[in-house]
Amino acid sequence: MKCTAIILAAGQGKRMKSNVQKQFLQLGEYPVLYYSLKAFQDSPEITDIVLVCGKTEINYCKDAFVQKYHIDKVSEVVAGGKERYESVYQGLCACHKTDYVLIHDGARPFVTEELIQRGLDCAKEYQACAAGVPSKDTVKIIGEGKKVVSTPDRSHVWNVQTPQIFEYHLIKKAYEKALMHDSSRITDDAMVVEDYGNHKVWLYEGSYKNIKITTPEDLEIGEIFARETYDKKK
Ligand code: CTP
Ligand code: MG
Repeated sequence: MKCTAIILAAGQGKRMKSNVQKQFLQLGEYPVLYYSLKAFQDSPEITDIVLVCGKTEINYCKDAFVQKYHIDKVSEVVAGGKERYESVYQGLCACHKTDYVLIHDGARPFVTEELIQRGLDCAKEYQACAAGVPSKDTVKIIGEGKKVVSTPDRSHVWNVQTPQIFEYHLIKKAYEKALMHDSSRITDDAMVVEDYGNHKVWLYEGSYKNIKITTPEDLEIGEIFARETYDKKK
């Protein structure tokens, strides 16, 4: 059975407000993007990796990541699009005949082999799943002028992460349908299957350490996690 990881690294990182795109920033010993590439490289069930990056960074990614760190499972390095969902679709189109795809944010460095395995076990049972953790904070739905509209019961609120894992044809078809409609509200892959896949999505246990590097504060926490990861591997 073939399992392809699609690693997304084509974003601009606007919320980070840094000159260098956040996926290329140094975090401890290595750049942000290195950690997730390495986790998928070392996962025995992953057959290959499609790396999606900016059009002008294809050669840089090949040299500074694939070759430098011997990430030899990378079968394709392709250009993404303006929005995340466009990059995902480019990644899906670059997959060579595969059974499952694991879509992962390159800005989420602390994914582990255990987490990937847990996700794959869930995907084999349910065909569509995403990593998630119970929300620690109470969530409010707001309207105009930040006026609170409602408060969902926290016991039913989870924060979703990646990897989000799908049977390949299911997600590809769902994306093709979604792209014919209003795609602008797509913020994750699970919602594409929820809305256009005619298939339910399950969550599997993610990790509170599986953070997405989004704003400068995340780099401070990330430094600590990165050192732990590095020390463990030494
Ligand atoms: N991503 C991508 N292509 C895009 C937008 C995002 O491949 N057009 C990737 C990012 O590189 C990141 C992941 O999707 O690994 C999650 O997106 P996000 O955290 O929103 O990253 P950015 O879009 O880069 O950041 P921002 O929204 O702050 O600009
Ligand atoms: Mg974004």
